[in-house]
Amino acid sequence: MADTDWQTTWGDKDFIENWASKGSWQAPIRDVQTAMVLRMIPQPIDAPIRLLDVGAGYGALAAAVLRDRPNATAVCLDASAAMLKLGPEKNPDLKDRMTFVQGSLESPDWLKAVNGTFDAVISSRALHHFTENQGRRDIFKELFNLVRAGGCFVNADNVCASTKSLTEHYRNARDEYLDRYVRAASGGRSNLAEAKAATPSSYHGPHNNGILEEELAWLREAGFVDVDCFWKFTTTVVYGGFKS
Ligand SMILES: C[S@@+](CC[C@H](N)C(=O)[O-])C[C@H]1O[C@@H](n2cnc3c(N)ncnc32)[C@H](O)[C@@H]1O
Repeated sequence: MADTDWQTTWGDKDFIENWASKGSWQAPIRDVQTAMVLRMIPQPIDAPIRLLDVGAGYGALAAAVLRDRPNATAVCLDASAAMLKLGPEKNPDLKDRMTFVQGSLESPDWLKAVNGTFDAVISSRALHHFTENQGRRDIFKELFNLVRAGGCFVNADNVCASTKSLTEHYRNARDEYLDRYVRAASGGRSNLAEAKAATPSSYHGPHNNGILEEELAWLREAGFVDVDCFWKFTTTVVYGGFKS
C-alpha cells in the first residue's frame, strides 16, 4: 500500500470507524484468533514483558495482551496518524502502559521509531499488505532482530487458499458459520447478509494475502524456531515462531 493511500483509508476517521464497526459480526472468529495470540506468548503471565505491535492501528491487540498481563507494557507502531490518535482514546485504562509511534513498514526506516528490543512482537490484520516484492520476507528479518532471546513473533492475519475451489469452499464455510452466529445472537431477528449490509464496505486496496507455507518458510529463514501455524479457521490464521 502506498503512503498516499492513507488519506482515503487508514488516514480517515470515518473510514476507520466504519471498518471497526464490522467487529461485532466477525467476533466469533476474531475473538478466538486474539485468544490464540495471547496464549502463544511464552513468558509467565506476570512477567514485565515489553511488547511491540506492528501495524497496530489503535492498539486493539496490544490492549488485549496488556489486559491479560498486568505487568506488560507495549509499543504500538502504525503508519496512520489518525489510527494512532485513536489509541489513547480507545484505551484510557492503559495509558501508562501503551506508547504509540508512527512509522511505515514500507522501508526499514520504521526501525528508528522504536527503541530497543522486545519480548514479544505481535501483529494483527496488517502484514498482509506487504506480500508484493516479498516485502513481508524482509519485515520478518527486521522483526527477528528486535525479538529478545526466549521471545516470540505471533501474527494474526489472513492467508490465501491454495486453489480457487478451496477459496470458494472456505468462503461458504465462513459465511455459514457467521450467519448462524448472527441469527443466534440476534434471536433470529437478523442474518449475516443484513449485518454486512449495515456495515458498508471499507475496501482499502488489494489484500496481498500470503501462502501459509511460504510465510512459515520465511520465518524459519529469518531465524525463528518452532515455527508453525498455531491456529487456523478457513483463511484466518495465527502463525509465528520463537527465538532461542
Ligand atoms: C486492518 S488494520 C489492523 C489494525 C490493528 N492491527 C487491528 O487488528 O485492529 C491495518 C493496519 O495496518 C496499518 N498499515 C497499513 N500499511 C502500513 C504500513 N506501511 N506501515 C505501518 N502500518 C501500516 C494501517 O494503518 C492499519 O492501522
